[in-house]
Amino acid sequence: MTASSATFDSVELIVWSGTGNTRHVAERFADAARARGAEARVTAAGTATEKRTAARRLVGLLAPTHGFTAPWPIIKAALTVPDVRGVEAFVLVTRGGTRFGGRNLAGFQGTAAYLPAALLALRGARIRGVGAVDMPLNWTVVVPAAAPEAVAAIVDRGDAQVDTFAGRLLDGETVFGGLVPLAVGLLILPISLGYMLIARLLLAKMFFADERCTSCRTCEKNCPQHAVRLSGGGLRPYWNYRCQNCMRCMSNCPTDAIQGGQAWMLFYLWLLSLPIGAFAASALLGALGVSTGPAVPLMALLLRYAWIVISIWVAYSLLWLGLSVPGLRVLLSRSTLTRGYRRYRGPESRG
Ligand SMILES: Cc1cc2nc3c(=O)[nH]c(=O)nc-3n(C[C@H](O)[C@H](O)[C@H](O)COP(=O)(O)O)c2cc1C
Repeated sequence: MTASSATFDSVELIVWSGTGNTRHVAERFADAARARGAEARVTAAGTATEKRTAARRLVGLLAPTHGFTAPWPIIKAALTVPDVRGVEAFVLVTRGGTRFGGRNLAGFQGTAAYLPAALLALRGARIRGVGAVDMPLNWTVVVPAAAPEAVAAIVDRGDAQVDTFAGRLLDGETVFGGLVPLAVGLLILPISLGYMLIARLLLAKMFFADERCTSCRTCEKNCPQHAVRLSGGGLRPYWNYRCQNCMRCMSNCPTDAIQGGQAWMLFYLWLLSLPIGAFAASALLGALGVSTGPAVPLMALLLRYAWIVISIWVAYSLLWLGLSVPGLRVLLSRSTLTRGYRRYRGPESRG
């Protein structure tokens, strides 16, 4: 296709990516657009985009799947990306593909793609496509990364999926994939909400650096959410609640010092199982003189949520302080499963 016959003059791809899978997909989409004569640009979500005046624009939002839905940064992008009224748009998500017995297994995106698409549509964008691409599962705080050959095979398949999706969309078709995952994703929406509002916070507070940390600040400098700060006497990384568990810190750490404390998670779950939260909520409501009325259950729920956020923050801060005791630091790092896990390095550095 020549430049003059291109369906779109300008293709703007707004991407949020942890370990580079979605960035890789966006770059490949951009190449397909350029091959068709369009001007294409990949921008990180949250950075300012230039005002565009092209006659026919296509705006794409790209992100990984987290907890069977879209991570917060891409939801925010869908709500804030400027000048989308009347503009043609699409959403493409990556999901965690795996390889078992020589076969590629697909990930599961649930509502990850349709949620931002719906938000864009509500803002007046004309949705032309929704899709998902299988890239290697990168959740290395939970499972070890696949072997390099398996990663290569999954990326090759993912590349083919991007080429098909991009080709159809850029040649003027509308492409709405993933309706069955959407239906199932809606059924399990409570699980996704639980992930977004609670599990994400607990998981953020699982991270710590073991005794191999050299305070090189790679994690701090590269975090897409600015959620890691080096502090304390030994300059150790501390993860705040902005963390989205994107795994970039774990993947990029040059000494593989970043661990996820599974034992910490068990401690948090025990802490949250104590009836203190419910007790404190009813005591506070009682002290405020609110013991009946339709707003009470909602207020009790909000107080319980506040208890989760504050108690986990305090518990993490204490555990993090414990890391300054050398013996305890070694014990804490030896008690993690992640110490033996292969790290996921991203599609660019595979092999
Ligand atoms: C916290 C977290 C949650 C995830 N949840 C899902 C999921 O629900 N379904 C799925 O298929 N993949 C899931 N994945 C895998 C990623 O979506 C997948 O590996 C993606 O390609 C990572 O892209 P990125 O490198 O651009 O961040 C999850 C990964 C992480 C880190």
